[in-house]
Amino acid sequence: MKVLSNFVDWIDARFPLTKVWNEHLAQYYAPKNFNFWYFFGSLAMLVLVMQILTGIFLTMNYKPSATEAFSSVEYIMRDVNWGWLMRYMHSTGASAFFIVIYLHMFRGLLYGSYRQPRELLWIFGMLLYVALMAEAFMGYLLPWGQMSYWGAQVIISLFSAIPGIGEALSEWIRGDFVIADATLNRFFAFHVIAVPLILVALVFVHIVALHAVGSNNPDGIEIKKNKDANGIPLDGIPFHPYYSVKDIVGVIVFLILFSAVVFFLPEMDGWFLEKDNFIPADPLKTPEHIVPLWYFTPFYAILRAVPSKFGGVMAMGGAIVVLFLLPWLDRSPVKSIRYKGMLYKGILTVFILSFLALGYLGTQPATPILTNFARVFSIIYFLFFLLMPFYTKMDRTKPVPDRVTK
Ligand code: HEM
Repeated sequence: MKVLSNFVDWIDARFPLTKVWNEHLAQYYAPKNFNFWYFFGSLAMLVLVMQILTGIFLTMNYKPSATEAFSSVEYIMRDVNWGWLMRYMHSTGASAFFIVIYLHMFRGLLYGSYRQPRELLWIFGMLLYVALMAEAFMGYLLPWGQMSYWGAQVIISLFSAIPGIGEALSEWIRGDFVIADATLNRFFAFHVIAVPLILVALVFVHIVALHAVGSNNPDGIEIKKNKDANGIPLDGIPFHPYYSVKDIVGVIVFLILFSAVVFFLPEMDGWFLEKDNFIPADPLKTPEHIVPLWYFTPFYAILRAVPSKFGGVMAMGGAIVVLFLLPWLDRSPVKSIRYKGMLYKGILTVFILSFLALGYLGTQPATPILTNFARVFSIIYFLFFLLMPFYTKMDRTKPVPDRVTK
């Protein structure tokens, strides 16, 4: 043990190891009342690491070329040792990432975690969400199946709706007049190195921002307002060992569910791996229904709900932009849902149901009746945000206690 402590002393004299350990783990005080919703940040980090590791192994045998991509994926599935496991972990990991992130964002919505002083933390989170969407979108082209090809074709051609520069822009993104080998090569470069670097950098600043202001909690009370004589928050407990151990429980439960999917239901009946993507890309044959994977469908439904192509693109972009503005739209005197009134709770419920409905409608063919439904739910989606400054002010909130409860 003496050898070990000497070694740590040697490092500490040259690098702030113990200092960082204490500041961010052993003496980082987190609110004592974290609940189920607080598992998803650490799970998101776990999934990111898993995606990077499985991605490295896939890259060893994948060929980013229009003639070889599809068959190299089949080769990974059939001939490469454990290749099937790497691929299914990676494809399931993509959906798991979005499940975890949507729950993580929803927690922010429930407890007002985006409110002052956490606005930048929220903005970094939103940038992570956008980067994650780009990562998933570009990764989906790589297997070069029918849905990879036509999905990318639809989304990139959206840029052509921008007046004036649109056509040139979409051609520039593709590197050709249609999705082609050049597109596959550049998407590979972005998916494998550029966007993962951005994701890792953003996670770093996300955590730096979190540790600068401290975690929110289910009561929405700032624990830094009540400190003992030593300056330690009365309602705080050291992150390590209390939450490091608690997070391990979350990791184990997550891995059990994740393994169940990887080993027994990797395609999730077309939800995690679409059926049309088992057919090699054919530029001459458009699939009957071009549908993105489930995590994009709410935004896809908003896109299709607007009759003009440009309007649809603006609405889809706007649906993401309003999420960035959340910290400034919420004017409630309280942060947490626990102390908000019936008005807010009712409106939030309607919003969640509309978002889920949009997600469902995005998976369905755009018949006139379903498109009308999508229009109604899109309007509700935007009204939730645009009317927020008003209804959060009108809402009859409850008094917030001084100290955290449970
Ligand atoms: C790769 C993606 C992400 C990773 C790895 C990540 C990681 C984390 C971690 C480890 C925490 C602290 C633990 C916790 O509170 O659960 C956290 C907190 C937080 N994250 Fe993220 N996050 C990601 C994406 C996002 C996104 C997309 C948003 C929202 C737009 C977001 C908003 C927040 C907020 C507001 C907090 C503080 C919550 C509170 O204290 O109540 N994060 N994040």
